[in-house]
Amino acid sequence: MQETVKLIVGDQTIELPVIVGTEGERAIDITKLRDQTGMITYDPSLGNTGVCRSEITFIDGEKGILRYRGIPIEQFADHPNFVEVAWMLIFGRLPKPDELARFSSLLTANELLHEGLKHQFDHIPPDAPPMAILSATLNNLSFYHEQFLSPQDEESFELAAARLISKVRTIAAFSYRRSLGLPFIYPDPNLRYCANFLHMMFSIPFQQYIVTPEIEDALNLVFVLHADHEQNCSTSTVRTVGSARANLFASCAAGVCALWGPLHGGANVEVIDMLERIHQGGMSPEDCIRAAKDKSNPFRLFGFGHRVYKNYDPRAKLLKASCDKVLAKLRRQDPLLDIARKLEEAALNDPYFVERKLYPNVDFYSGILLRAMGIPTNMFTVCFAIGRLPGWIAQWREQHVDASTRILRPRQVYTGPAESPYVPMEDR
Ligand code: SDX
Repeated sequence: MQETVKLIVGDQTIELPVIVGTEGERAIDITKLRDQTGMITYDPSLGNTGVCRSEITFIDGEKGILRYRGIPIEQFADHPNFVEVAWMLIFGRLPKPDELARFSSLLTANELLHEGLKHQFDHIPPDAPPMAILSATLNNLSFYHEQFLSPQDEESFELAAARLISKVRTIAAFSYRRSLGLPFIYPDPNLRYCANFLHMMFSIPFQQYIVTPEIEDALNLVFVLHADHEQNCSTSTVRTVGSARANLFASCAAGVCALWGPLHGGANVEVIDMLERIHQGGMSPEDCIRAAKDKSNPFRLFGFGHRVYKNYDPRAKLLKASCDKVLAKLRRQDPLLDIARKLEEAALNDPYFVERKLYPNVDFYSGILLRAMGIPTNMFTVCFAIGRLPGWIAQWREQHVDASTRILRPRQVYTGPAESPYVPMEDR
């Protein structure tokens, strides 16, 4: 029996169907609302509005639950394998050994950039923002590769996905090398995904960077934990651009631009800047908390709060634990980790944060872990993008294979001037 809700509009009572999700989430289907009542709904940041059905990621924000294709995120933590998770997010199930091997081969076969694209880096200023380089260069992949417009068949889609997921790593590493005036280090086909990225970042000619298992695992974990997060700002951007049937490169390049924002993926940079300021005595943790609570102050406690999580972000828990593990293995202390812990404790015991259910999110500890690997702060959001790319690709594909998908085109409530005549210049 289809569940419905009644809506009374003037002297009209209409019934609207209720959609029920796998975990019992319920949504009022308003797709016929305007036809039936002439009215629209109003939900500016879409905080109460579902824009799609999706089978990829489930989040229970109240309980702090995150699952990829039904698998709790914690179950990837002991043996994080980003390539395996990427394939699973895109194709809907864990890959069989031969499927994973094939996808890994495709990643290796597509790790190089076209030399023409590589030469574009020669004209990029050394201090160019890496996220600007990343979004531009992802878009420019369509100079050298056919525009991927729709997932006609799995094979061509798998190649398009491998091309993007492999080359994003090379683009990121090349932008880092460019920023330091260092020679580009080409990808090594004998290295696994994360090891190859770190090799391209940190090897120097005739002195190969050798990754330790702990660092390789930690980077796999960072990428796995960033791989998808349902309809966040950047994923919604990818879906919006993709709904116009723009190609996959352009859609993901748009996602990079949205992710760059300090309220979104750019927060991992802001967190480190905030912790550094405390470390250098610029401000105390108490000053931070005070500033974050001061409505007249634009300062926010970066790495805290979330539109969906009203509990501890499960990714933050895993990243925090990995920080401890990696720093212990490296026999290194990071004062910023101690400061982060103090800040977390102060915030979690402050009524302002407790009342608003503000907890650490994925960005609060990720930067400390990336620092431990030697990755510079200005590359943190790029690393977030490398991790999130499979999620964007999976969501883009899911939208394209859904025959009911239409171009995303929200409505508005117009509050501008009523009809008024044009006034010639001489009469103004
Ligand atoms: C990511 O959506 C996703 O899934 C994103 C992400 C993903 O994986 O894709 O999880 C990745 O973007 C994580 C979030 C990273 N951003 C930050 O850490 C920036 C700091 N956080 C905030 O700016 C904020 O919490 C947001 C942007 C994350 C969420 O903003 P919302 O949902 O619009 O919440 P809000 O601004 O309406 O805040 C509600 C209240 C407000 O106070 P009141 O008006 O009720 O008095 O909480 C306050 C806010 O002022 N608040 C904060 C705060 N976050 C919310 N106050 C101080 N510091 C903060 N960090």
